[in-house]
Amino acid sequence: MTKKLFIETHGCQMNEYDSARMVDLLESQLEWEQTDQWQEADLLLLNTCSIREKAQEKVFHQLGRWRALKDKKPDLIIAVGGCVASQEGAAIRRRAPYVDVVFGPQTLHRIPEMVRMRQEQNIPVVDVSFPEVEKFDALPPPSVEGPKAMVSIMEGCSKYCSFCVVPYTRGEEVSRPLSGILEEIISLTEQGVKEITLLGQNVNGYRDTASGGLITFADLLYQVAEISGVERIRYTTSHPLEFSADLIEAHGAIPQLVNHVHLPVQSGSDRILALMKRNHTAIEYKSIIRKLKKVCPNITISSDFIVGFPGETEADFADTMALIDTVGFDTSYSFVYSPRPGTPAAQLPDETPELVKKHRLQILQSRIIQKAQEISLAMKNTQQKVLVEGYSKKDPGKLQGRTENNRVVNFLSSDSQLIGQMVTVNIVEALPNSLYGEFLGNESYCAIIA
Ligand code: SAH
Ligand code: F3S
Repeated sequence: MTKKLFIETHGCQMNEYDSARMVDLLESQLEWEQTDQWQEADLLLLNTCSIREKAQEKVFHQLGRWRALKDKKPDLIIAVGGCVASQEGAAIRRRAPYVDVVFGPQTLHRIPEMVRMRQEQNIPVVDVSFPEVEKFDALPPPSVEGPKAMVSIMEGCSKYCSFCVVPYTRGEEVSRPLSGILEEIISLTEQGVKEITLLGQNVNGYRDTASGGLITFADLLYQVAEISGVERIRYTTSHPLEFSADLIEAHGAIPQLVNHVHLPVQSGSDRILALMKRNHTAIEYKSIIRKLKKVCPNITISSDFIVGFPGETEADFADTMALIDTVGFDTSYSFVYSPRPGTPAAQLPDETPELVKKHRLQILQSRIIQKAQEISLAMKNTQQKVLVEGYSKKDPGKLQGRTENNRVVNFLSSDSQLIGQMVTVNIVEALPNSLYGEFLGNESYCAIIA
């Protein structure tokens, strides 16, 4: 009987990408089948996140729930991957000895082998090493459903922001060879994919090593745009430090590149930015945005913010709010600072009460929601390019897709032929969580972003 695997993914898009690759591997190499019912699985896989303490706590709660199933089904294999696995390694098994396999983000390509070893030898397997790009060479071509796909272009991070665990859990920045990236995108477009999201912790730090580092992220964007069938390109996440002139220029030159950039700033206070080791100032950040707006006047910007970094004063927070008002950010991610073991910021004195931090977060989030709503309202009576993803969740008489700045749009139509197509929609209503529009046509590139 075909064995079944269930996968649960916590955290970022990189983890979602990694999870999809693990499923591809187990399906193609072991002929296992994915299920969405964890109780019927023979392998339970948890892809973990350690970016904040809360994310890390979720891991042991989830494992506790799975343990009961293992008591009933002794052959059940429980595997833990991702950043918590990378950071904790064998220590995971000290807290949860019923875990069979522990592997890091850089060894996920070895998952079929590790599962096989566990089945044959009945001993636990732990591999959280960093064998660099070997991972990409070992992966089967990705299988996709729908018109959107993510493609990993680089791994890890060498920026070492003082608050962040990523450099320790995912390792130093390693770029993937250009040829492999382009081949993967061609294979995706052959399966009907129209929108590609280029993924990495710092995508604009991309350098093709085969060309001696001469090919930059901007060069990669031009090459991706040349691939027939690529109608929309996104990327995440970029870092202000390497947001170079050629990348800004690419935004003006590549029609498929969306009119939206996610460029995390974290704080608007230069003092806090220095303590965070971001290596740029608020003015430098604003200068990038100004240049981007020069080449793409309607571009929208989103960011990540950390509130309540150790030592953040009311004046520092006011600087962040001032930056928010100047840039006018679209929907963004914001969290209260969470000390992470092993990071330099965890050693800093932190006297701000948690309640004050939470209050600051509320103020920041409501200002961003307000601005995002203003952006939605400004989209009323404009024509937007929408990639149709399927039927509306609430009303099967409507279709649903997303705009360039990631707004969900519903519009009246039951023409299933439009699913997977880029269409033009006139926006008639801006609701708090979505837009409502009327279908105008489905010729590609006909939309004008007003
Ligand atoms: N460049 C990366 C950033 C990864 S971390 C990317 O691919 O998105 C994502 C976000 O988590 C960061 O931008 C930061 O805002 C937040 N973050 C990281 N460490 C954190 C911590 N210790 N506490 C609170 N938020 C944190
Ligand atoms: Fe983390 Fe800073 Fe890198 S936020 S992922 S160390 S750029």
